[in-house]
Amino acid sequence: MTSGDEDERAARENGAGRAAAVTGRTHGSGLVVRGVRRSFRGVVAVEEADLEVPAGSVTALVGPNGAGKTTLLLVLAGLLAPDRGTVLLDGVDLAADPVAARARTGWMPDALGSWESLTGRELLRAMADAHGVPRAQARRRVDELLALVHLEDLADARAQVLSRGQKQRLGLARALVHSPAVLLLDEPASGLDPRSRVELRDTLRRLAGEGVAVLVSSHVLSELDELADRAVLVAGGRTVDVVEDVGAGGRGADDGTARPTRPWRLRALDADLLRRALADRGLPVREGPGGLDVVLGGELAAARLLAELVADGVPVVAFAPATGLLEQAYLELDERSRR
Ligand SMILES: Nc1ncnc2c1ncn2[C@@H]1O[C@H](COP(=O)(O)OP(=O)(O)OP(=O)(O)O)[C@@H](O)[C@H]1O
Ligand SMILES: [Mg+2]
Repeated sequence: MTSGDEDERAARENGAGRAAAVTGRTHGSGLVVRGVRRSFRGVVAVEEADLEVPAGSVTALVGPNGAGKTTLLLVLAGLLAPDRGTVLLDGVDLAADPVAARARTGWMPDALGSWESLTGRELLRAMADAHGVPRAQARRRVDELLALVHLEDLADARAQVLSRGQKQRLGLARALVHSPAVLLLDEPASGLDPRSRVELRDTLRRLAGEGVAVLVSSHVLSELDELADRAVLVAGGRTVDVVEDVGAGGRGADDGTARPTRPWRLRALDADLLRRALADRGLPVREGPGGLDVVLGGELAAARLLAELVADGVPVVAFAPATGLLEQAYLELDERSRR
């Protein structure tokens, strides 16, 4: 196939149906990864990766430094060939049809890279061009994206003068230029200030709401509660565990009931009194950092328990959802991978 044919096909793929960008997407097939391995001259960076990211969901890729997250994401983005294994991006086999697969995929690396002599606007237009987005449409799309990441005022400054957080935001816009069905992001929150982190989270949730399959690597577990639906844990190049229902704090969906069960962290001026009061109620307690962790079956149960404790004279000073099972699963994983 000539590059002209490729351009034309990419234009079709990015045109009708995908033109409306972040809205109006119909749910696709998401991302499916089976038995992926990738090594570098004897160093096995990804040994065995199996995971799924359903369309319309956000999945977090979580694991310690060197676990193989970036390598895996580079394979999924079509930038590193796997030694073996299968990657389906929105139903398209990456090995069989890399051009079509990449047309469906947005990639945000952990650093913006070698495009920094261009302005933000030029960079986004060049990317739109590369993806075959028709010119008139690209102009509108680039303006929309600059507004989405709040870089309108800096659109004509060279990317190299942008701050780290601003570059991250431009990187997100670049990944979205062609309205991908699958979005891959490597540590997108690093370098972002608190407000930009909240905006990133809202943007990714909105994209998922529109049917995009989002896979995001992150170390900031506390932020994943509200961002991710589920987490895939990676250690030593293997996908070792899946934590479902991250936002609800646990694996509550296993029995099909999806109860909003999660650990809560309690602290009282008199810790012994609190411990006794919880024991009296038959609640199993775990010592957490800065308080006692108790698993409760939802906010109503939490509100009732708090009212009872206060009525019983327990001087409660803190009562809030603990980070929960994801943090716990991660720390256990980290512990295992250091042995
Ligand atoms: N190009 C390469 N050549 C040789 N080894 C590599 C290469 N890229 C990655 N590795 C090795 O593969 C392993 C996984 O690296 P990778 O960057 O994928 O980890 P990561 O999970 O993204 O880590 P971090 O959390 O620090 O970003 C590491 O041991 C790393 O040294
Ligand atoms: Mg990495």
